[in-house]
Amino acid sequence: MAPLNTDDFRATARRRLPRGLFDYIDRGTEDEVSLARIRASLDGVRLRPRILNGDCPASLETTLLGRRHPTPLVIAPTALAGMVADKGETKLARAASRFGIPFTVSTQSVEPVEDIRRGAPDAELWFQLYVWKDRARTAELLRRVAACDCDTLVLTVDTQMPPKREYNQRNGFGVPFRPTPGNVADMLCHPRWLWEVILRPGLRRGMPSYGHYPPEFRAGLLSPVTAEELRLDPALTWQDFRALRDGWQGRIILKGVLGTEDAMRAKAEGADAIVVSTHGGRNFDALPTTAEALPRIAANPAAVPELLADSGVRRGSDVLKYLALGASAVQLGRAPLWGLAAGGETGAATLLEIILAEMRTGMGFLGARTLADLCPFDN
Ligand SMILES: Cc1cc2nc3c(=O)[nH]c(=O)nc-3n(C[C@H](O)[C@H](O)[C@H](O)COP(=O)(O)O)c2cc1C
Repeated sequence: MAPLNTDDFRATARRRLPRGLFDYIDRGTEDEVSLARIRASLDGVRLRPRILNGDCPASLETTLLGRRHPTPLVIAPTALAGMVADKGETKLARAASRFGIPFTVSTQSVEPVEDIRRGAPDAELWFQLYVWKDRARTAELLRRVAACDCDTLVLTVDTQMPPKREYNQRNGFGVPFRPTPGNVADMLCHPRWLWEVILRPGLRRGMPSYGHYPPEFRAGLLSPVTAEELRLDPALTWQDFRALRDGWQGRIILKGVLGTEDAMRAKAEGADAIVVSTHGGRNFDALPTTAEALPRIAANPAAVPELLADSGVRRGSDVLKYLALGASAVQLGRAPLWGLAAGGETGAATLLEIILAEMRTGMGFLGARTLADLCPFDN
């Protein structure tokens, strides 16, 4: 039967992808407490219904950073989407652009931003930056990004350390990939993925690698990234942010903010927006969830920049909940990857269509004509 919801796509992705890769996308960190709490706190949010409001269907239009958007969705940056499907990043960008949804290119994508721009000329591309220790190389990367008609920079600030994902240590599915009898068997049991994503493209273009790395460091995901200058800088400061702000002509969004003080500082330092995010429960297991942090940050809107939110969105109603709690847009991380795994560009587009339809249904039940009418239930 055709997939009806995000979980159906996830189930297909689980069959299609090697177990190690599926787990890399699906799971959390340490004891995966955060993953469970993200779900529980979203489930705990209820929305205020209004009756006899007429005017259905509701509009999903929104203004985000001064521009009109047909929907409040954004595709979050996800490293290595190109391991889920051949040209996975381009396929996601094309699927998103069918709905006018921005697609965020990760610093750690398989395809470089130039290839994604060529493959998805109509897409609104944002770029997520992990700052490399070598600032000159980081600056060069940003020049390439700007040349690809991409003016929105998303600086991720919640990944100061490599996360402790023990399942990936055990199964060898990391960078560098460590072949073991178990994970080689895992790949051989998924011959379609092995052929379509690794072997066939590999014969033409070589093994997948981090597409933004300078060629001398782009040795494929099998080899360790030994170059110290391309390690993510663990010691970023507000001074680094200011330097980036001064050097970038476009908009800058800080991704991974959970505290009100940091949100206020972000505004004072010139951030155009922040993403209230707990990184999908993938980084550290003792953080507040987005649903907990967002209303506190949004309580004083004049003091903070525009708010986006992510983590745990599986249904249209989850999107509506983050919007009701104060976000003006909501990012999807894992869900589009499952759509991509299940059906390529079409799968990702169908997944987005289902989430948008669920949002419209929810708006109808809530009697909300516009996204501004959304409100948490508070009595
Ligand atoms: C496989 C995978 C890779 C990710 N890679 C990045 C990344 O390169 N940069 C980044 O800022 N966030 C990254 N994230 C986090 C997402 O941008 C987003 O914050 C998170 O996935 C949202 O939660 P959700 O997956 O439950 O929607 C990644 C998430 C996943 C699932």
